[in-house]
Amino acid sequence: MLKEKTCLVTGCAGFIGSHLTEKLLADGYAVIGVDALRDYYDVAIKKQNLNSLKHDNFEFIEADLNELDLGSIVKRVYHVFHEAAQAGVRNSWGQEFGIYVNDNIMATQKLLEALRGQKDKKMIFASSSSVYGDSTQDELVEKAVLNPVSPYGVTKLAAEKLVQVYWKNYGVQALGLRYFTVFGPRQRPDMGLFKFIKAALKNEEIEIYGDGSQKRDFTYVTDIVEANILALNNFRPGECFNIGSGSNLTVNEVLSKIEKISGKGLAVRYTERAKGDVINTLANIGNARKQLGYDPKMNFEQGLLSQIEYMRKSLKIG
Ligand code: UGA
Repeated sequence: MLKEKTCLVTGCAGFIGSHLTEKLLADGYAVIGVDALRDYYDVAIKKQNLNSLKHDNFEFIEADLNELDLGSIVKRVYHVFHEAAQAGVRNSWGQEFGIYVNDNIMATQKLLEALRGQKDKKMIFASSSSVYGDSTQDELVEKAVLNPVSPYGVTKLAAEKLVQVYWKNYGVQALGLRYFTVFGPRQRPDMGLFKFIKAALKNEEIEIYGDGSQKRDFTYVTDIVEANILALNNFRPGECFNIGSGSNLTVNEVLSKIEKISGKGLAVRYTERAKGDVINTLANIGNARKQLGYDPKMNFEQGLLSQIEYMRKSLKIG
């Protein structure tokens, strides 16, 4: 195993982490994957994701990052892709907040501490569009004022700030990628598209928070993976980059597309807007294009089709 080709992927059993690990293994990297296999959603789904990572160069460690000796793990790798997080914007209120603090802030700080004094190693942190909150700008640029509207967004912003202070004070080579509503095969079952497609395929009712006019920049998972590899090769420590598709759609437009592609009529029930949900997201990806060479490839319809096909199979719907 070549040392320069060994990476740590945290959250390797999750939606994005498993796709990233698969690509790194295919590209000849060795991967140490860590995942706590939390039951935020069905653990069987995470185990199924892990099944696609069977490889001689893959080592899996089931553990909570906060309880692991990260110093000794970080010594064995050259690059760290920190995908592990307590995800989900709308569930981050109330008692659950402690989990978000532990998983999104404390674990990130522990990793950065482990990287102190190891200046040749690089860490890429999975941040989120939710750090922006409700911006008055149509297009979100990295230097916009950051005003998250959910506790989840607050934890992701805190972690970004940790990345910056560890770089400035200790020269830890870390950067953040702000993912915009990621979709595709293996999408988390608590996310909008998963729920909408599942309801369409099973003729169930869909619940929409608000009137469906909220917009999202939906980003296909392989473009997110590509952004990680590009960031590694064109590293800009201490910086954060938007990783989106550069266009957006309303939730109602998405529902029409699902109806068209799946050939099923949808039963939609509109309810109250969810607290913590931002109204619109649209990534300006100019910086990522220029500095990282990021160039998202997947158009929304094709991506939607591949998620629908994947879900038909995984949910065993003919
Ligand atoms: C998603 C992820 O869940 C976050 O972990 C991530 O950090 C964030 O993207 C991001 O961009 O950084 P969100 O944009 O809320 O958060 O994505 P979805 O859960 O897929 O929701 C998309 C839209 O569908 C939202 O406007 C939401 O209000 C709506 N929705 C979702 C519904 O109307 N009904 C539902 O049952 C679910």
